[in-house]
Amino acid sequence: MRKIQFFDTTLRDGEQTPGVNFNTKEKVQIALQLEKWGIDVIEAGFPISSNGDFEAVREIARHVKHMTVAGLARCQKKDIDRAYEALQDAIDPQIHVFLATSPVHMEYKLKMTTKEVIASIKEHVTYARTLFEKVQFSPEDATRTEREFLLLAVQTAVDAGATIINIPDTVGYSNPTEYGEIFKYLIENVQSEKEITFSSHCHDDLGMATANALAAIENGANRVEGTLNGIGERAGNTALEEVAVALYIRKDFYQAEDNIQLAETKTTSDIISRFAGIPVPKNKAVIGGNAFAHESGIHQDGVLKNPTTYEIITPELVGVKHNALPLGKLSGRHAFINKMEELGFTLEQEELREAFAKFKDLADKKKEVTDSDLRALMVGQQTSESDAYSLTGLELNYHSDGEQEATVVVVMPNGKAIEASAKGSGSVQAIYNAIDEIFSHEIALNSYSIEAVTSGIDAQAEVHVTVINSETGSFHNAVGIDFDVLQASAIAYLQANNAVQQENAQEEVE
Ligand code: KIV
Ligand code: ZN
Repeated sequence: MRKIQFFDTTLRDGEQTPGVNFNTKEKVQIALQLEKWGIDVIEAGFPISSNGDFEAVREIARHVKHMTVAGLARCQKKDIDRAYEALQDAIDPQIHVFLATSPVHMEYKLKMTTKEVIASIKEHVTYARTLFEKVQFSPEDATRTEREFLLLAVQTAVDAGATIINIPDTVGYSNPTEYGEIFKYLIENVQSEKEITFSSHCHDDLGMATANALAAIENGANRVEGTLNGIGERAGNTALEEVAVALYIRKDFYQAEDNIQLAETKTTSDIISRFAGIPVPKNKAVIGGNAFAHESGIHQDGVLKNPTTYEIITPELVGVKHNALPLGKLSGRHAFINKMEELGFTLEQEELREAFAKFKDLADKKKEVTDSDLRALMVGQQTSESDAYSLTGLELNYHSDGEQEATVVVVMPNGKAIEASAKGSGSVQAIYNAIDEIFSHEIALNSYSIEAVTSGIDAQAEVHVTVINSETGSFHNAVGIDFDVLQASAIAYLQANNAVQQENAQEEVE
């Protein structure tokens, strides 16, 4: 049976989702969980794009034990050098070089002729090959590129030493018939003495990213690129969990195998959803909350008689546990460590001590501490960087009619406390106005939502906010979790301000 390799770009294309900014600690946790899930190649970042990305790629390369670690580079020597530097410690490094080949990109974005594009591919793939054994080339916007020119670009990259050819549907324009035909055409026409890996890379603008990836596989691609939960630029990328489950459930049709450990799917998806601050939609294929819920009487009756009447995927297959054992007040350190590992969190001694103390606090307030509570607890812990401001006090003067008044106390990284007060027409607005007093940067609140972490009256509140940094225009997601909705709202907004502050500081350095 043929083997399909899985290439995960959650930390690169996935991080291009508006509002998503993983810190290095979170990226390493995600990478280790992706390794457990069975990913073959991880695209850890775009090292030239920022010092933060460079550091993260380097850290991931140092931590990962089996996966190939890839870094992205434009067709520029300085990009390739920076990726080489970041990947020094990787067990199996790979570079991913790209250059656009569609008429619209060449004319308006690159301002290059077809001849110049071909010369640049030749020069930079040749250069990359002097530093890397494994070179991947992507003709960006391949699906809007003329077939003959696409073949010429790909053949040039192969002749210069690329052994992995990735065909990006950059703007999510293609459909399964057309995308599959591109693979068939290239596989039939590219000449090479070495074996070439053909890879799919799809975006979901027309909702066809998974279907297109599967069409590529049907037509000879043996690698698939994508992200967990389908996060990514605009409408996102191919959701790798959908491809993995489709290949498994329809093995009769695809006749292909892979290294994915399906039972780790839910844990992997949860970790990424938490760190990205993007909840998985209830109706999401494979891992959504409703994927295993049967509402209509006819369906319920059928499932009770025989689950296969309406259920092609069992919850167990993707690691959804209905009767997971919750921890409680009396659970010890050992049970806690086991549970954390099961949820995909590898903790160092100090982190473990801190997380265990938080768990004990939580267990005092809540009878049953569920997996969702523990993931939520870890989000608060992992997102707080050492240069972050933290909330130590919140007081509200509530008037049933008229304006509300809030006072917040925030501790700066140097230990100094700042107090600020402000009014607002509602409690949340008063708190946010008070926090605004503390920071010199300007931000705009783009979205605010509240959810309960678990069901029940003792559930914690989970507040999601997205803010826009007025200086750079970039979005930042943040999450705050607490038993009190207003405290959770304050934490979320403060975290968002921390992210903006870090972005501005980073911009000053670079
Ligand atoms: O979508 C795209 O074209 C990309 C390339 C960098 C491969 O992400
Ligand atoms: Zn992409």
